[in-house]
Amino acid sequence: MPSLDLNTAAEKHVTRVVIEPGAAARAGSYVEPLRPSKVLLVSETTVAPLLADKVLASLRSAGLDAEGEFFSSGEASKSPQVVEVIHGRLAAMALGRDGVIVALGGGVVSDVAGFAAATWMRGVRFVICPTTMEAMLDASIGGKTGINLPAGKNLVGAFHHPSLVLIDPTTLNTLPPRDVRAGLAESIKHALVFDEAFVGWHEANVECVLKLEPGAVTELIHRNVRIKADVVAADPYERTGRRALLNFGHTIGHALEAECGYALRHGECVAMGMAAALSLSVRCAGLAADQARRGRQLIEAFGLPVRWSACVAASQHIDPHALLERTRTDKKNAAGRRRFVLVEAIGRAKVVDDVDDESLQEAIREVLT
Ligand SMILES: NC(=O)c1ccc[n+]([C@@H]2O[C@H](COP(=O)([O-])OP(=O)(O)OC[C@H]3O[C@@H](n4cnc5c(N)ncnc54)[C@H](O)[C@@H]3O)[C@@H](O)[C@H]2O)c1
Ligand SMILES: [Zn+2]
Repeated sequence: MPSLDLNTAAEKHVTRVVIEPGAAARAGSYVEPLRPSKVLLVSETTVAPLLADKVLASLRSAGLDAEGEFFSSGEASKSPQVVEVIHGRLAAMALGRDGVIVALGGGVVSDVAGFAAATWMRGVRFVICPTTMEAMLDASIGGKTGINLPAGKNLVGAFHHPSLVLIDPTTLNTLPPRDVRAGLAESIKHALVFDEAFVGWHEANVECVLKLEPGAVTELIHRNVRIKADVVAADPYERTGRRALLNFGHTIGHALEAECGYALRHGECVAMGMAAALSLSVRCAGLAADQARRGRQLIEAFGLPVRWSACVAASQHIDPHALLERTRTDKKNAAGRRRFVLVEAIGRAKVVDDVDDESLQEAIREVLT
């Protein structure tokens, strides 16, 4: 089974990524070589009943002094209060600089537990055992950790790379199909932006990926981890612009997410954001119209929406002007200009600085039909 050593940060930090069916139940044998004096397993109330006993038993049978701390599942737990609870637990168990935090769950757990690890004693090591498609393909790689404030999502955070990412694809078997599909939006994004051959792979493997066939899922995860790690290694702290390409579909996606009050999954909003960005790419980046169609068909083949009317929350009205306004405040905009990641060809993206309002309004109109 694939095991990668990824150079993911400037100061030669190496993250080991293991992709192996059954790895969660063997977590102890992977964490033990880090020689932690103590381990805190952090998880949430949906994932813990499914997996925490197995992981804790494995950590303990490897001779590790391990405890568990579980918070309520859901985005609301990416909060300062939950970080405080985790820090309180670390203090109570006297986990020192040589301790390790293991995050077991989706992106919510890895973001909040990673941030707790980044800030406990100015940084202790952490391990991610991702259990959602979103976390396996995206959130586990790249070292971004953080929490939300009432003023906005991910406003407080730190770059803190995990020492190990332990991916057990069989944990996806209990994930609701809607969450599986939503996570796959990130895979489609990686392919459209960086790798045309991977677009072809997606087109040929829709059925087996959606059925979570082990071979296809393992290859999918492996290729996504590779793509994201290469981008992160080239631009670890989002300074050169390379990493910005990962925001394809996310400007309109984030605006939609906020405008519908987070009624839809992130990946569903990104799917529509990518559909809009493909239209914009035809107008502003020279993408051939048939290639934009190909991209939209791929998104739909994975059961993801390219239009608002195809969504479960479609009864809710989205105001195009409000949506447009939200893209104006997107943090990726350079002063006074509209900056978008667009694809000039399938598998090749660039940042376009001067997207005009008319083209953007048209793309938004299309998506909101
Ligand atoms: N740090 C990053 O680079 C990065 C990248 C992308 C997303 N994120 C963050 O990740 C979060 C979204 O991640 P997510 O989609 O994994 O959300 P999530 O962690 O909330 O998980 C989605 C749902 O699936 C449930 N779940 C998780 N694993 C399961 C399993 N194996 N079986 C059954 N149910 C399971 C969860 O309880 C939850 O209800 C957001 O907060 C986002 O900001 C971070
Ligand atoms: Zn995303």
